[in-house]
Amino acid sequence: MNPASVLPGQRDKQRFVREMFDRIAPRYGLVNSVMTFGLDRRWRRLAVRSLGLPVGSRVLDLASGPGEICDVLGTWEYRAIGMDLSWGMLVARGQGSGQDRVQGDAGYLPFASAAFDGITCGFGLRNFVDPATVFAEAGRVLRPGGRLAFLEVSVPRSRVLRAGHGLYFRHLVPRIGALLSDGTAYRYLPESVAYLPSSDEIADLLDRAGFVSVAIRQLAGGATQLVCGTRRS
Ligand SMILES: C[S@@+](CC[C@H](N)C(=O)[O-])C[C@H]1O[C@@H](n2cnc3c(N)ncnc32)[C@H](O)[C@@H]1O
Repeated sequence: MNPASVLPGQRDKQRFVREMFDRIAPRYGLVNSVMTFGLDRRWRRLAVRSLGLPVGSRVLDLASGPGEICDVLGTWEYRAIGMDLSWGMLVARGQGSGQDRVQGDAGYLPFASAAFDGITCGFGLRNFVDPATVFAEAGRVLRPGGRLAFLEVSVPRSRVLRAGHGLYFRHLVPRIGALLSDGTAYRYLPESVAYLPSSDEIADLLDRAGFVSVAIRQLAGGATQLVCGTRRS
């Protein structure tokens, strides 16, 4: 590993991630909007729309952060519950947001099997210690036919876009983050792409966790990806 890297080792990752998000929670939403030129809101709306579930469906939002996806789930009249490792993120918009939320690790879900109709997750996958365990847990708590929609950063496939994106993501984003929030956290962001499973690996992990009709869609020229799947009946 690069000695100048901020990435923690596997054993320290959960603590590092929790402490980092606790630290950046107060300005998380602001930095996100600036960094993505406001596109993050559009991506979250797309993820929720892709669930295609009836009104009143029960949806668990993993790695919910301050609750932006839960807000969108609410506008679709879904019954949303947010779950996040970082207490700071969960209460970043105040303790009385009116949203149902629980602090915990997405790899050990404190819910009964088949308890949910849908699962969403925005930009959490890279941060999990073991994505396979999270997908397996998602498969367990989703009812057969239930839907999953995960958003995550990605790397554009086109060489030209990849070069431009690399410049922005690896050089400008850490500077913007350091200016507005926390230097280490926004160096971690581009470096943590190294933790991301490839599209093939994601599809394979989802297959093993009991998902079918897995589709991975590139957004914003490939800077972001939306992973969807259906729990096998
Ligand atoms: C980049 S933020 C995303 C927040 C929000 N979903 C969004 O769309 O902006 C990643 C979130 O994942 C949470 N997280 C990381 N590891 C987790 C885990 N093992 N279980 C639950 N949440 C986790 C972090 O605390 C953080 O709030």
